[in-house]
Amino acid sequence: MYKILANTVFLGKDVHFLPECHSTNDKAFQLIKEKKAHEGTIIICDHQTLGKGQRGNSWMTQKGQNLTFSIILRPVFMDISEQFYLNMAVSNGIRSLFQEYIPMARVKWPNDLIVPDYGKIGGVLIENIFSEDGWEFAVVGIGININQLEFQSPKATSLARITGNQFDLRELFRLLVTQVEQGYLKLKRGKWAEIKSEYLHYLYLKDQKSLFKDARGEFEGSISGISKEGKLEIELENGLMEIFGLKEIVFLN
Ligand code: BTN
Repeated sequence: MYKILANTVFLGKDVHFLPECHSTNDKAFQLIKEKKAHEGTIIICDHQTLGKGQRGNSWMTQKGQNLTFSIILRPVFMDISEQFYLNMAVSNGIRSLFQEYIPMARVKWPNDLIVPDYGKIGGVLIENIFSEDGWEFAVVGIGININQLEFQSPKATSLARITGNQFDLRELFRLLVTQVEQGYLKLKRGKWAEIKSEYLHYLYLKDQKSLFKDARGEFEGSISGISKEGKLEIELENGLMEIFGLKEIVFLN
């Protein structure tokens, strides 16, 4: 059972714990529709059966082994064109916590939590409700593999697999929400440059010659930055820079 969080400013003062659900993001949308949600509401589930991932993928997780939850936010102070800053603020919070356990942990663009040479341990799916006036709600879905030891995908791993230890999910949930809140509060205080520079500092493969693939085929280049819209900027071997959206590029490293 996950309790209301005492050490945060506003996140997790209202925690909905579900032993089983399809997707915590979908449950969050249901609560919003029923007008039972407000900024900081969290939905956490022990056994998520139809979890959703980026790019229309599914997010598979074994019962009671991992963290799968959604945070409801109302970033009404931001223009929707700046939404990648929310992504960076959340990613920074997650990465900063897991770096305490695994110093090599990095964010792989846009928001995978990965450990180079081991694999992906977590991901974020942010789904939004916009109105004519701008942002209404952001549902920040976070999935982190903690104690699970077996995975179908060879690219997936967990904190336990890498460290050889098992972890208390409730304690990690509390710490993780605290870190995500810190990132979000920076956003609220307008510390945009700080958020971006932290994100870029720990971005996987930044400034490293790497292999990618796009619609035209494989190519080498190095990640040089992120555009205002959150697209990936890659400097090619000929010195030119190209910009890629989420579905336009695959990492081959
Ligand atoms: C990714 O593809 O990397 C994003 C994965 C996001 C998974 C989380 S688990 C909690 C929340 N509910 C969902 O259905 N998805 C997100």
